Amino acid sequence: MCGIVGYVGKSHAKEKVIDGLKRLEYRGYDSAGIALPIDGRIQIRKHVGEIKNLEKIIGAPEFDSAVGIGHTRWATHGAPSDVNSHPHGNGDNSIAIVHNGIIENYQEIKEWLIRDYGVNFKSETDSEVIAHLIGIFYDGDLLEAVNKAVAEMRGAYAVCAIAAAEPDKIVAVRKDAPLVAGIGKGFNFIASDIPALLKYVRQVYLIENNETVVLTKDDIVIYNEEGRKVKRDVFNVTWDADAAEKEGYEHFMLKEIHEQPKGIFETLTRRINDDDSINLDGISMTKEDIEGFNKVYIVACGTAYHAGLVGKLVIEKMAKIPVEIDVASEFRYRDPFVDENTLFIGISQSGETLDTLAALREAKRKGARILSVVNVVGSSVARESDDVFYTWAGPEIAVASTKAYTTQLVCMYLLGLYMGRTKGTIDEAYYHKVLADLKALPDKVTALLKKEDDIAEIARKYHRREQVFFIGRGLDSGVSYEGSLKLKEISYINSFAIAAGELKHGTIALMEEETLVFALATQDFLYEKMVSNVEEIKARGARVIGVAKEGRTEIEKVADEVIYIPDCIDEVSPVLAVIPLQIFAYYVARERGCNIDKPKNLAKSVTVE
Ligand code: F6R
Repeated sequence: MCGIVGYVGKSHAKEKVIDGLKRLEYRGYDSAGIALPIDGRIQIRKHVGEIKNLEKIIGAPEFDSAVGIGHTRWATHGAPSDVNSHPHGNGDNSIAIVHNGIIENYQEIKEWLIRDYGVNFKSETDSEVIAHLIGIFYDGDLLEAVNKAVAEMRGAYAVCAIAAAEPDKIVAVRKDAPLVAGIGKGFNFIASDIPALLKYVRQVYLIENNETVVLTKDDIVIYNEEGRKVKRDVFNVTWDADAAEKEGYEHFMLKEIHEQPKGIFETLTRRINDDDSINLDGISMTKEDIEGFNKVYIVACGTAYHAGLVGKLVIEKMAKIPVEIDVASEFRYRDPFVDENTLFIGISQSGETLDTLAALREAKRKGARILSVVNVVGSSVARESDDVFYTWAGPEIAVASTKAYTTQLVCMYLLGLYMGRTKGTIDEAYYHKVLADLKALPDKVTALLKKEDDIAEIARKYHRREQVFFIGRGLDSGVSYEGSLKLKEISYINSFAIAAGELKHGTIALMEEETLVFALATQDFLYEKMVSNVEEIKARGARVIGVAKEGRTEIEKVADEVIYIPDCIDEVSPVLAVIPLQIFAYYVARERGCNIDKPKNLAKSVTVE
């Protein structure tokens, strides 16, 4: 995710800004840049890749100043590249800005600036419009120009701006993107995140929505939306840098579990229009294309594959088209039936998984249309696909995937609904029913996360087990696989998932006194059958933790514990059902003293075969 750092002091801004950017590296980024007012001009240097690439081009001692702004970019509009990196300048670099967030109406602004002011845009980013807007409004007062620019912008933003003619200040503004001002003595900081500042300051002002802040070396002045000065209490940061990166959570995995409502919300809202239609902006799939596909092939690895298991059932149900699914490492070596009428969907958080990439290339070679569902903008999978459906989970740092999975599920639903509506295979009432339940998910996930302590208690009770089973039917079966993978990869418990109806064909032989089984029973139309499956294993002495929707209490009669998820239609329950499994896995691993964020033998991105 993008990071912002700004410094105003007496000297050596370069070192402070770069140091702050390095503290934000853990969040993931694809390029970095810095702007410094030097001798009446703003000097901008930026480079794709790691901060060390940037350092190579800003090494000269004379390239320094008392004021500076810097940025690490996580690409959204425009691929990772030098030119798309921040800071962005206006035409003559008399203004420079860094920006986190999205300017929704940037196209409109861009067209207006080109038409009326002949502005020459250098990058493909939405952010560049901000620099030009401020430049156009600038008349010797940066604060006033920033306020005027902001009045033209829609979207979410944290922006820091500097002006060559006022080289002693930074003006920053925020709306729906975080910003903190760090209070120093003879210097001040501004940043998107507290970890960037902690080496230098412990006292900060938390800037609130729609506030503007002017920083000079001796002063931080905050203004509200009406332009009135605001008095803000000082916030004393007591965490160390490591805890601050995790925003107070003990591990990234837990932080990311809690970020799911936001990721789901972002992934949904970017694709749902005001009239509740789904937009596939940037995806060039026409009605004719959709009607022409005779098969969908979903290919991925690990957790992304598990999202595909749900995607298969959802797309088949909604778009009435056969969907095959395979793990990428198998697909690529088995001469699959793929042709120019196949829609190939590759799912990948990192977009760098070698097997998925190789499978994609194989499908492409056979003429398939390639659509990828990817979290990392500009990654290899994204670049090599015909179209990309981005998840908006934000950077995922813990090796065990959580928020990427639930946002991948959201993409599967949106795709299924879009294809089904386009083909006329679902009626309007059904479309709106599913959409309404999707939109309710962020709140429902938030409500479910409040059960964390209860689930942690269950985890404490069972954390010594060396074997755990996960069973479910229909969509729950796919979620069982994900629950099982989460548990085994971070706690090293031997866990096993199986479709509940398949148990009796062999695996039930393993059921004995105290065998621990997670039974997912969130599908109303399969509920009774699941309850019968639970009875069968209870009869063999198993311990059962049921997961069911609120109000479906029948399972209490057979299960030892029941975790209830908020009520919803069957289709969307995987997004909710997986949450208790993630929390359970997390707390079991914690009880067992495992290295949760970096489990043994695993890497976040598997770029080898
Ligand atoms: C499990 C996990 C892995 C990944 C898999 C694919 O928690 O994270 O199973 O899902 O390695 O990675 P991506 O999605 O980056 O292709």
